[in-house]
Amino acid sequence: METLRLAVNETEYQESITTAAEILKNGGVVGVPTETVYGLAASAYDNNAIKKVFDAKGRPQDNPLIVHISDMEMLKDVAEDIPEIVYTLAENFWPGPLTMVLHRTEKIAESVSAGLLTVAVRMPSNTVALDVIKKSGLPLAAPSANVSGRPSPTSAYHVVNDLDGKIDAVLMGDDCDFGVESTVITLVGQTPILLRPGAVTYEQLLNFLPTLEIADAVLNELKSGDKAESPGMKYKHYAPKTTAFLVEGDNFADFVNKQENAVAVCFEEEANNIKIPKLIYGSVNDTLSLAHSIFAVLREVDKFGAERVFIHAPEKEGVGLAVYNRLIRAAAFKVINI
Ligand code: TXA
Ligand code: MG
Repeated sequence: METLRLAVNETEYQESITTAAEILKNGGVVGVPTETVYGLAASAYDNNAIKKVFDAKGRPQDNPLIVHISDMEMLKDVAEDIPEIVYTLAENFWPGPLTMVLHRTEKIAESVSAGLLTVAVRMPSNTVALDVIKKSGLPLAAPSANVSGRPSPTSAYHVVNDLDGKIDAVLMGDDCDFGVESTVITLVGQTPILLRPGAVTYEQLLNFLPTLEIADAVLNELKSGDKAESPGMKYKHYAPKTTAFLVEGDNFADFVNKQENAVAVCFEEEANNIKIPKLIYGSVNDTLSLAHSIFAVLREVDKFGAERVFIHAPEKEGVGLAVYNRLIRAAAFKVINI
């Protein structure tokens, strides 16, 4: 199939949003920019459309999708038995990069929830995303718009690279602001649990959810046989083809300078001291800058044709926890302490 590129400049904006909404209403799939990463959207009510999303990505069937809504009315179409805290969290963090797992309604296509009785919901803040949801009148199920296992797409070109010819259209928006996927919490159990860290931080959420726990799988590898609270946590993720290692400690430059046939992914502050091929992913003091660039940098690593890549780990605080969580997966949990 030919994948339409829909421009979102001023002159073509309305026409592109209308075209995207029509495709979605007719059961098609569209790449959509959000403030976190690009999503591959389909109607959350349409099992056939959702099947196309899983097929295009090569996504395991047991990994459920996040449903995107544009207003609080739509929340009632997708979730029920909604606890009061959801409204408080929505007031503080929506629209924005927070996803809440709630009890699902019957209206949601079963494949969205991959057989679970719950649904993950968020209201994105990106204008293009909000306008497509409003124009179509549909809650949109959208996983990240990458081939499963690859780094998530933070620019329209990443989506085209991964999915050209496999999806109906891509809204060619700007690069994503945050660059890591939303924070996912579940509110259906006895205690709230952080399933995936993101730009809404654990520290921020503690103000509203003092008993919030961090799921084991955020920082640790699931043992075979362990049950994943969030199915996505058990799959290999974000990996370049080059064998990746996450490196913790201060003397990163000294360490990588001794390595042969290797690439370094480093902070800008240490770049001048590194004598092997390197990619800079931001400032050590600005975890948002690290989040913004990490997936684009992971997509660049293979171009060097090196055997190994050593990535300097960020602090596990604030947004750094989200970056660390993605990197430890990209490195398949291979951590070196120096
Ligand atoms: O920022 C984001 O969340 C992006 C943009 C497009 O909104 N979407 C995204 O979707 O990252 P995806 O499919 O790549 O990740 C969804 C995560 C997976 O880890 C999945 O297992 C989890 O959310 N998830 C979805 N529904 C769930 C549910 N009902 N219960 C537990 N975890 C769920
Ligand atoms: Mg994903």
